[in-house]
Amino acid sequence: MNSSILSGKTYFIRTFGCQMNLHDSERVSGLLDSLGCLEVGEPSDADIVIFMTCCVREAADTRLYGQCSSCKSLPKSPSGRRVIAVGGCIAQRDGEGLLTNLDNVDVIFGTHSIAHVGELIAQAFEDGDHHVRCEEIEDKGATSMPWHRATTFHSWVPIMTGCNNFCSYCIVPYVRGREKSRPFEQIVDEVAGLVRSDVREITLLGQNVNSYGRDIFGKPRFADLLRAVGETGIERIRFTSSHPKDLLPETINAMADVPAVMPHLHLAVQSGSTRVLKEMNRRYTREQYIDLVRSIREKIPGIALTTDIIVGFPGETEEDFLQTLSLAEEVRYAQAFTFIYSKREGTPAAMIDDPTPHDVILDRFNRLVSVIETTAHEFNQGQLHTTVPALIEGTSKKDDCMLQGKSPWNQTVHAPLPEGADIDSYIGKIVDVDVDVAKTWYLSGSLVGGPR
Ligand code: SAM
Ligand code: SF4
Ligand code: F3S
Repeated sequence: MNSSILSGKTYFIRTFGCQMNLHDSERVSGLLDSLGCLEVGEPSDADIVIFMTCCVREAADTRLYGQCSSCKSLPKSPSGRRVIAVGGCIAQRDGEGLLTNLDNVDVIFGTHSIAHVGELIAQAFEDGDHHVRCEEIEDKGATSMPWHRATTFHSWVPIMTGCNNFCSYCIVPYVRGREKSRPFEQIVDEVAGLVRSDVREITLLGQNVNSYGRDIFGKPRFADLLRAVGETGIERIRFTSSHPKDLLPETINAMADVPAVMPHLHLAVQSGSTRVLKEMNRRYTREQYIDLVRSIREKIPGIALTTDIIVGFPGETEEDFLQTLSLAEEVRYAQAFTFIYSKREGTPAAMIDDPTPHDVILDRFNRLVSVIETTAHEFNQGQLHTTVPALIEGTSKKDDCMLQGKSPWNQTVHAPLPEGADIDSYIGKIVDVDVDVAKTWYLSGSLVGGPR
């Protein structure tokens, strides 16, 4: 590759979808930075525009077409020639086929091919042709690529890629491949290195972190990994996602024992009906999930439990939905991501006919959201008139004099920036906040002492 052609070029990257894509974007940025490119904040200022795409639901899928078309009306790029590149899960799914509808796209790179993005873009600048690379197997180069972190104090740490679960509604295993764990020591060394560069919080990433290590050691070793990462001196450890069927008692024990593991667990339930869970191929029942929640709360009282729930899975009856509603009321989630089922071609659920009218599904969705709002508010009320340590991420979008951070329970926390203080001396620092307001989606209060 003649990579020198990229030196001095500007790039803009827009990311859709989950943390996997966010982290992949950090790797793509790291690679382009190492080739002498410069990131810019607007597509109009960029010689290279990259879209990291998601196809988990239809809405995310269709957004790409609008984004690519809008590039046609951009003013000329600084270098006089603009290369448009599409990566991520839509690229992996559709490959070269994307060119049929997106005639201004130059480069397509799949989820296993991000290590090649530099050479693909350089070739496109050189010959003006289309360049497509969508391998079917995991690219060994990706986790050793340079990496441009979005913040200095937090880092995503992928511990595995892919998914073996094949939930019947989900496209992810088809676009991310099978589970592949990173070597244990590599992850621990990486976290130790992050601690040395003043990172205070990490999020371990995988589609199902609870099965981490099964492909290397023949059994999951996520609990051992939590304990080893906890020894590095990192102050806050989070992880996502956790599949309930693989959450072992030893992992709950490790969460309780390792002080740096934050008291928050995202445990996707998807449905409260055992019948629907079976159709979804989730491999646990409503009762097993509720028992699991009970054992987690026994070991870690006060833990914030959050979840994902799908409403309107094909064939979901009112009775099934009432089971979901009552489960949500029983578990009392601190927060939940609620989704209306979206048909994904190629998945088993896409073959199931569903006569349920959309307005019925929408009504169910709204009823569920209202239960979640009640339990989220109740959870936050539990922190009222307490002092909460918040890791400051920046300022509130609405008020740049209002510090915004995260509590150990992953709640958004606001506190006024002291008069005359410099925001930079707070970002990435932990402050204590005396909470005097506890709303559904945030806490707010006043600072006690200084940043640390
Ligand atoms: N691996 C994670 C887990 O199982 O917890 C989830 C990853 S997926 C990117 C995030 C969420 O999207 C899922 O938990 C599910 O609720 C939702 N989702 C996946 N496929 C969907 C579909 N076809 N329609 C609606 N929501 C979907
Ligand atoms: Fe999709 Fe299920 Fe895998 Fe999560 S565990 S990524 S929902 S197939
Ligand atoms: Fe979307 Fe791919 Fe993540 S489909 S949710 S970006 S794994």
